[in-house]
Amino acid sequence: MEQTVIDAPISVSKVSKTYKDGFRAVKNVSFDIRKGDFTVLLGLNGAGKTSLISMITGLNKISSGVIQIFGDDITRSPYRAKSHMAIMPQEINFNLFSKISDVLIFHGGYYGISPEKVMQRARPLLKKARLLKKIDQPVSSLSGGMKRMLMLIRCLIQNPKLLILDEPTANLDIEIRKTIWEILRAEHKKGMTTVLTTHNLEEAQLLCTNVLILHHGEIVLDRSIEDAIQSLEEKFYSVSFESKITQKQLHGFSSYHAEMREDGKASFCIRSDQDIGHLIYKLHLAGHKIAHVAPSSHQLEQLLHQATL
Ligand SMILES: Nc1ncnc2c1ncn2[C@@H]1O[C@H](COP(=O)(O)OP(=O)(O)OP(=O)(O)O)[C@@H](O)[C@H]1O
Ligand SMILES: [Mg+2]
Repeated sequence: MEQTVIDAPISVSKVSKTYKDGFRAVKNVSFDIRKGDFTVLLGLNGAGKTSLISMITGLNKISSGVIQIFGDDITRSPYRAKSHMAIMPQEINFNLFSKISDVLIFHGGYYGISPEKVMQRARPLLKKARLLKKIDQPVSSLSGGMKRMLMLIRCLIQNPKLLILDEPTANLDIEIRKTIWEILRAEHKKGMTTVLTTHNLEEAQLLCTNVLILHHGEIVLDRSIEDAIQSLEEKFYSVSFESKITQKQLHGFSSYHAEMREDGKASFCIRSDQDIGHLIYKLHLAGHKIAHVAPSSHQLEQLLHQATL
């Protein structure tokens, strides 16, 4: 029998979505998101991610099945269910003529937070995002990336227990992406459960603890990223070195498919009969001083590839 987690941040049980034209975008999907998870929802274009997220956040009607947010049914008690979560949709949805401070204060008021408290919570985030000096300017004066930062800050002033983000960093430059990653990491550390959709696997690998893969409307993988990667036959690592090295210097490492990348890091593939410790030792013997070793986003690429064959 399926076990549901009582008061899970998100509990999805046998949920389907059939659109008016008869197309079934989500098919009898069940899963739970646990407190403190940082989950990435992956899937190819058209897999059903936005359809699923829209039902979870109450923006789209569920055709059959039940979704609960911290135990509150999104269909029967939408107000209560929505009070637990903040949503950062993909499209910018501000009144562009409002001042930045007004956007935040208005949003806080909606959740019963005083203007003073709103600004107290927003100030360090605005500073981090280099928006503090602009708080008296209209939203229309911000760049596209700054508007997205403001959307994230608006989500966070209500101090949500659950944050849901639909492609939060699509088309943003690396600086803003990094700032968003830092903020999300810090909030997650404080205990916020987070779900995001992204096509950026590096982002997923850097931030997330769990992965859900949706394929043709069905969940084909629901695991911790660590477990899912353990199950792979080949594992990919990215290694950065203390001083610059060239592809030529990696010739002795062809059995690991060693490759220098544009970002100055090298990528290595470890088969099931090889091990990462041995590789590190060999690199050391070859005189290459290692600064950092991390699983690379190739792992998620492989998982996605295997799950969607
Ligand atoms: N309002 C609608 N009416 C009919 N079909 C729809 C509607 N919205 C979405 N679909 C279909 O449902 C399927 C899933 O779409 P959805 O937007 O959920 O995918 P997605 O996984 O979010 O894709 P992407 O990565 O491209 O954003 C697609 O085939 C899409 O055409
Ligand atoms: Mg989508």
